[in-house]
Amino acid sequence: MIDPASNELPIGVFDSGVGGLTVLKALRQQLPHEHLLYLGDTARVPYGTKSPASITRYALQAADHLRKRGIKLLVIACNTATAVALDELQKKLAPLPVVGVLEPGARAAVALRPAGSHLVLATEATVRLGAYSRAINALDASAVVAEQPCELMVALAEEGWLNDPVADAIVHRYLEPWLGETAGPKACTVILGCTHFPLLRESIRRVIGDDALIIDSASTTAQAVERTLDERKLRRLSATAPRLQLLATDGPSRFARVGRMFLEEDVSADDIELVDI
Ligand code: DGL
Repeated sequence: MIDPASNELPIGVFDSGVGGLTVLKALRQQLPHEHLLYLGDTARVPYGTKSPASITRYALQAADHLRKRGIKLLVIACNTATAVALDELQKKLAPLPVVGVLEPGARAAVALRPAGSHLVLATEATVRLGAYSRAINALDASAVVAEQPCELMVALAEEGWLNDPVADAIVHRYLEPWLGETAGPKACTVILGCTHFPLLRESIRRVIGDDALIIDSASTTAQAVERTLDERKLRRLSATAPRLQLLATDGPSRFARVGRMFLEEDVSADDIELVDI
C-alpha cells in the first residue's frame, strides 16, 4: 500500500564531506521531483585514511541522524563508507532501503567491458578492503581488477586544482604503473571509485589517453535509487517544488565554496545547516 506520508519524505544522502555532491547532482537530474536531504561529515573528512572501526562508527552516526529527521531511503554517497559499512547500515536501518555507490559502479564497468580489465582509483581504506574487486568478480568471474589508492587526489579536488599542471603531475604519478609502453592504459576501464575523482576526469583523461573508458558511479547510483523507489512504491507523488536541504558537521563556508564546484551551482554558507551528530 502507498503511504503518502512516506512518499513525501526526502531521500537522505550521506558523504564524508562535499564529494558526495557529485551523487546528489546525479540524483537531482534523475529524480527531479524528490526532496533531498544531504549530510556531509566535514568535521571528520577524510574517511579514506581512517580505520574500519572509526569509519563504521561515523557512518552509523550520520545515518542515524538522517533517519531521525525522517527519510524514505538512504544513499551512502561515499565509496569508503560503502566499502566498509554498507552491510552493517543495511542491517541496522532495515526496513529503510540503503543504496551504496560501489555496486552500481562495478555493474556499469562490467556491462560496458565484459571479461575486461579494470583499474579502480579509490581511497586507501576502499583499496585495503578490495571491495571493488569483490563486487566486480561477483558479477564477472573472468574480469581482471587492479586497485590503486590515490589519497592526494582527494585533496586536489577539495582545493579546486583541477585543470592544473600540479593535478596532471599527481594523477600521472598514481597512474604510471598502469600505463602501457605506448602510454595508453593497460586496463579497459578506469573506475572513479571515490566521490572526488569525477572532478579530475579531464586530468585523468589527459594522462591515460583516449582508449580506456572512464566509469563514474554517480549516474548509475541514481538509476539504482530510482529502481528501489519504484520497487517499494516510494516515489514522491506531489507536484509542488522539491526541497534541497544541506547539512554539515563543520565549516559551512568551506562547504559552500567547495560545494559550488561539485554541484556546479551557487551555494551560500547560509544555505547550510551546521549539525552535531
Ligand atoms: N568520500 C570518500 C570516498 O568516496 C572520499 C573522501 C574521504 O576520504 O573521505 O571514498
